[in-house]
Amino acid sequence: MKNLKKCIEMQIRAEKIIPGMTQLLSKRPDRFSSGVWPGYFQKAKGVTIWDLDGNEYTDMSIGGIGATILGYADPDVDGAVTNVISEGVASSLNCPEEVELAELLCDLHPWADKVRFCRAGGEAMAMAVRIARALTSRSKIAFCGYHGWHDWYLSANLKDGTALDGHLINGLEPCGVPKELTGTAIPFYMNDTQDFFKAVNHCGNDLAAVVMEPMRNIEPEPDFMRSIRNYVDKVGAVLIIDEISAGLRFNTGGAHLVMHPVEPDMAVFSKGLGNGYAISAVIGRDSVMEAAQNSFISSTNWTERIGPVAALATLQKHSEKKVFEHLIAMGDTVQQGWIEAAGRFGLPIDVGGMKPMSHFKINVPEWPQVKAYFIQEMLKKGFLASNLFYAMYAHSSDHVKEYFLALNIVFEGIKKALSERNIDKLLVGEKPSDGFSRLN
Ligand SMILES: Cc1ncc(COP(=O)(O)O)c(C=O)c1O
Repeated sequence: MKNLKKCIEMQIRAEKIIPGMTQLLSKRPDRFSSGVWPGYFQKAKGVTIWDLDGNEYTDMSIGGIGATILGYADPDVDGAVTNVISEGVASSLNCPEEVELAELLCDLHPWADKVRFCRAGGEAMAMAVRIARALTSRSKIAFCGYHGWHDWYLSANLKDGTALDGHLINGLEPCGVPKELTGTAIPFYMNDTQDFFKAVNHCGNDLAAVVMEPMRNIEPEPDFMRSIRNYVDKVGAVLIIDEISAGLRFNTGGAHLVMHPVEPDMAVFSKGLGNGYAISAVIGRDSVMEAAQNSFISSTNWTERIGPVAALATLQKHSEKKVFEHLIAMGDTVQQGWIEAAGRFGLPIDVGGMKPMSHFKINVPEWPQVKAYFIQEMLKKGFLASNLFYAMYAHSSDHVKEYFLALNIVFEGIKKALSERNIDKLLVGEKPSDGFSRLN
């Protein structure tokens, strides 16, 4: 294995002083393989990451968990940001770039008239839900998919601790969420019309909003979306589409524009919007967004300048280069490559996800060990890799070719280890944890 002395030392320091070790569950080393996953970087450029010990990797894993849609330290976005840093990013007045960004987002989404900004994804979803509740004077939310860490969402697990399972992260603990919110967020599954009506019937005449991702693992059926739109209109609720992950991966704008036969009332962006700089946006119809004025929604750091500047530069490059076409093509090639490699070695594989955010699973009881072995062996070959591949514009077909040369060797090793029943003995690090779990 590579020398990870400094990386491991930093992990030990972090575990002592940061509860849960990181600020994002998905970047915790135990989600990959503790002991071998480097965990900390000193530099990232294009698709290359250098860890604290100076080891260099080609990143074929979570691509900054979907935020760095163009690639690390993109010269155009960073150029725009550094220019503005020298002019000052915070002052007693507001930055004009947020107005330009609001206008651009409304141009890209002709159904939307108004925009509010904040800086994180979950926070933007909380803002959208607040606006919907303010508008309707109702409390209940029917939702599908993952929408962040805030009380409105986690409250779904208050009554039944497994209500959020299957919506991306299993086992989310609603500890600390007021029990009074029990029954205010009701989940339903994508394309399951019966389940949708069960959820909204449960909300009765207190339904403020239906919240969903435009797509996560399966594409929405047009009729499913039509029945949601019809119902929302009938009862005077609001349809909120969470574009935090899917946005900018199928077009320059929300995936709903190309995927849904109906328009939402609000849509929410973050992640890719700033190519790694913090920015999020809630866009919506005039009649809905005006309710933001009746509720107190306000924060100091939402006025800083880097987020809007980064977003403007990201959107400009994204549309000029048709970045989404590249992301879809890369994801497609990787999905095909996984299927071919697994077929070559007789490994039962499931491949899924939207193409720019793909994942696989080898369907064997030893999957956790297989995942740890895959990560470990790919690291040895100079790749940050897991069973997720989030495409970035900086990924080239050469990166993908080299990745598959390495991956085929590792898949052959998996086949051998499974036949010889010795995969546990080959592991240097730990098996990955699944879902939400405490770090002890
Ligand atoms: C669809 C969706 N909504 C909300 C969030 C939460 O965003 P953040 O992690 O920026 O708070 C995520 C993050 O993965 C997401 O994918």
